[in-house]
Amino acid sequence: MCGIVGYSGLKQAAPILLDGLARLEYRGYDSAGIAVRDGDGEIKVVKAKGRLAVLAEKTDSGKALLGRCGVGHTRWATHGAPSEINAHPHHSDDGNVVGIHNGIIENYKELKELLEKNGYSFYSSTDTEVAIKLIDYYYKKGSGSPIDALTRAMTRITGSYSFAILFKDFPDEIFAARKDSPLIVGVGDDESFLASDVPAILKYTRSVYYIGNYEIAHLSGGKVDFYNIDGERIEKEPSEISWDAATAEKAGYEHFMIKEIHEQPEAVKNTLSSVIHDGKIDLSSVGITDEELKSISTIYIVACGSAYHVGAVMQYVIEDLAGIPVRVELASEFRYRKPVLDKSGLCIIISQSGETADSLAALREAKSRGLRTLAIVNVVGSSIAREADNVFYTLAGPEIAVATTKAYSAQLVAGYTFAVQLAYVLGRIDETKYEDLIAELLTLPEKIETILEDKERLQWFAAKQSSSTDIFFIGRGIDYAISLEGSLKMKEISYIHSESYAAGELKHGAISLIEDGTLVVGCLTQSELYEKTVSNMVECQSRGAYLMAVTTAGNYNTEDIADFTVYIPETDSHFAASLAVVPLQLMSYYVSLAKGLDVDKPRNLAKSVTVE
Ligand code: AGP
Repeated sequence: MCGIVGYSGLKQAAPILLDGLARLEYRGYDSAGIAVRDGDGEIKVVKAKGRLAVLAEKTDSGKALLGRCGVGHTRWATHGAPSEINAHPHHSDDGNVVGIHNGIIENYKELKELLEKNGYSFYSSTDTEVAIKLIDYYYKKGSGSPIDALTRAMTRITGSYSFAILFKDFPDEIFAARKDSPLIVGVGDDESFLASDVPAILKYTRSVYYIGNYEIAHLSGGKVDFYNIDGERIEKEPSEISWDAATAEKAGYEHFMIKEIHEQPEAVKNTLSSVIHDGKIDLSSVGITDEELKSISTIYIVACGSAYHVGAVMQYVIEDLAGIPVRVELASEFRYRKPVLDKSGLCIIISQSGETADSLAALREAKSRGLRTLAIVNVVGSSIAREADNVFYTLAGPEIAVATTKAYSAQLVAGYTFAVQLAYVLGRIDETKYEDLIAELLTLPEKIETILEDKERLQWFAAKQSSSTDIFFIGRGIDYAISLEGSLKMKEISYIHSESYAAGELKHGAISLIEDGTLVVGCLTQSELYEKTVSNMVECQSRGAYLMAVTTAGNYNTEDIADFTVYIPETDSHFAASLAVVPLQLMSYYVSLAKGLDVDKPRNLAKSVTVE
């Protein structure tokens, strides 16, 4: 996520802005910028690609920019590659409005056309520049009131935003607005602060106001006023922050992993909304036309670790919905085994970081063989994103914990939308099925939220498993693909040996490992395979296994067999992994927590494996 800071008061703003941005570095970013004004002087903007140190150097640690009011921003790119021109703050061409933004303007293309018709031009490829110029447009079209301009822009924009805006005609004042992307106001003696998160201002004040959705804040020195979207003044109560800085970085969660598990509804919603518009899937931002989809003969999905597990799910979903053959390969194998590839095939590389060496090598191998390549990545401008022919960006935001959760979930829904669109253009599903599947996809964020509300039961159960030495995750079909991810999560953060097995394969050897008390986790979301997997679980139970089941609400007889059952909301069977994975993520997290391990930075692991 981007980072936002603002200051209005008696001190020099720039050093405070740089300090605040530095305290938001954990959020991840690729560029940064600040805008400062000295009284009614011009608004000076300095931006830099890369680390904050570059921006500090360009501004002599802020000392070169005089002024007691300003805003600062660290950018996590979603629209437009990381670059100085795309970095915030953005401004109207006459400098009348200068501002920064965190969030996603979903209808920015439509707004850009509106503004172009009214004489606006654009220097960047960001949705933010469109939003800033829209505010300028309404400011000039309206009564010349910043509040009026903001309320009009807010009613016109769809998406998520937290804005911090400077108006040329209002020196030493900041106007902020928020929908979905968090934004807080801190108040001190004759000064006020703005931040996207508590750590940025904790050094200066613990008295904060949380700006609500569709609310506006007006900061002028130590005076802060709030307005609703109708432009009416509203009263708000301040809160006292009791957290320390380290806890604040995790928004009050104990670890980044549990924070990111809880960010999955938003990550899934943002990723879906990037390609689903008015109930249809539109892959134009990915760059693959429906005609090009039709020409795909076969699909190769290549990745590592959890990204590979996403591919395992996609194989079932694409083959079942679109009827196209799909092969899923480990990148570390693909790059060396001289695979036989169909030139009219599509090679999909999945990678959160976009920098995994094996996956990058696999991409280059596929390109050298003349295949079209599609990257599903979470980091804009990453190596894999830059080298692939097409890119589907997941909008999970920066993922800090080594064990992936929200990026995995965002990759899943990217895969689903690709599969559904492919099936539709191939005529394999009709209009009704197409619309039904899309409607079901849009319910996933809320269903994930529902599962997260049940986490206490999982924490209780997980604590009892912390002394386990072997855990098996089993399933059939998509449930097997889910069990792959469940097993990896358990291994990588609890250090407990775990295996994932296709349930039907157990009797061919592995069942000899089942002993008294061995935990076997059965994934049971695929109704046509439910009975078969249950019988495999019972085979394990008869040899002493302790059974946990993850199944769909309604299968309440499961608890007659399993010792512990977790129910997930009903959904289309193709999308079940998005729900079933959540209890498995939570269980691994709580087992690791019970063992007192470093959940966010497990031993021997790196967030991005950029070497072979
Ligand atoms: C998953 O929790 C691990 N962190 C690891 O398996 C990861 O998925 C794998 O290294 C691939 O990383 P990437 O998605 O950045 O390419």
